[in-house]
Amino acid sequence: MTELELIRPDDWHVHLRDGELLKAVVDHTARQFARAIVMPNLKPPVTTVAAARAYRERILAAVDPALGFTPLMTAYLTDDSDADELERGFRDGVFTAAKLYPAHATTNSAAGVTDIRRLDRVLDRMQSLGMPLLVHGEVVDHSVDVFDREATFIDRVLAPTLERFPGLRVVFEHITTRQAVDFVTNARETVGATITPHHLEFNRNAMFEGGIRPHFYCLPVAKREVHRLALRKAATSGNPKFFLGTDSAPHRVVDKEAACGCAGIWNAPVALESYAKTFEEEGALDKLEAFASLHGPRFYRLPVNGTRVRLSRTSTHVPERYTLAPGDIVPFHAGKQLAWRYAGVVR
Ligand code: NCD
Ligand code: ZN
Repeated sequence: MTELELIRPDDWHVHLRDGELLKAVVDHTARQFARAIVMPNLKPPVTTVAAARAYRERILAAVDPALGFTPLMTAYLTDDSDADELERGFRDGVFTAAKLYPAHATTNSAAGVTDIRRLDRVLDRMQSLGMPLLVHGEVVDHSVDVFDREATFIDRVLAPTLERFPGLRVVFEHITTRQAVDFVTNARETVGATITPHHLEFNRNAMFEGGIRPHFYCLPVAKREVHRLALRKAATSGNPKFFLGTDSAPHRVVDKEAACGCAGIWNAPVALESYAKTFEEEGALDKLEAFASLHGPRFYRLPVNGTRVRLSRTSTHVPERYTLAPGDIVPFHAGKQLAWRYAGVVR
């Protein structure tokens, strides 16, 4: 196969940042994806309808309009989130979903939720509205090993919450474990999961190959090989519960290569190329379109995109770094050759 054509995909989990960084990165996402669920973990976080509207305007002002990109906004949940505000945002078409960050779980999550029980009123309202809850599924308990935090989150938080709110629509974001794959597979139809290109590509060894490798560090952190294999199986299975979400999370080189380096991998420049690599290796290129372009809209109850895109089997060299106005950023697959190349929208 030398060409692959698919319905234009969407990215159901991305960090577009703000200010100069937003301007530098947004077109990389908009080039490949028609829509994206934009994460609200700015400083300060996007907690109100007004803040989300304003952020959406900044994104639309920064993106190349010719790319035809629609940002879908999310509300950042805090202990003080107000059910009426969320409902208003959802009904007005400003909030597509709300995001749960356990406080201190990841980048800019200090204002996150300290105890999910504090959200009872909010979750009850979201359940009635059919408004999706997106979860960063890691406990923050320091006595729990960092590699066990996702699996522990399922037992301590996610499963009990779904018992209390059985109709809640939930996306378990950027899953990294066999336990998460099993949980989602066995859950109700209303529970889905996103899978990143990087968790499909490498296991935790990548962070320590010949020395410490900050550009392979993200959260949730990559796990053992058995988990990566479970993710690859889930993504390529054709099961509509699993869909594309890059978790593209750009940080400048100076912020990654530091004594306390930031978590996040910037995969936007090669997102589809990277997913195509995995699907080809798994002999499942025929399943890529469903994962990338059909399962997400189905979960979010949105129309499937009307345009198509093409990938060509052309060896592509990924730059070691991108020189951008706010500072250099190292992309995923830096310095590597990829077999597929995104060739744009089919005209
Ligand atoms: C994200 C970021 O930098 O905002 N980092 C990451 O490693 N994925 C936050 C997140 O999604 O956890
Ligand atoms: Zn993320």
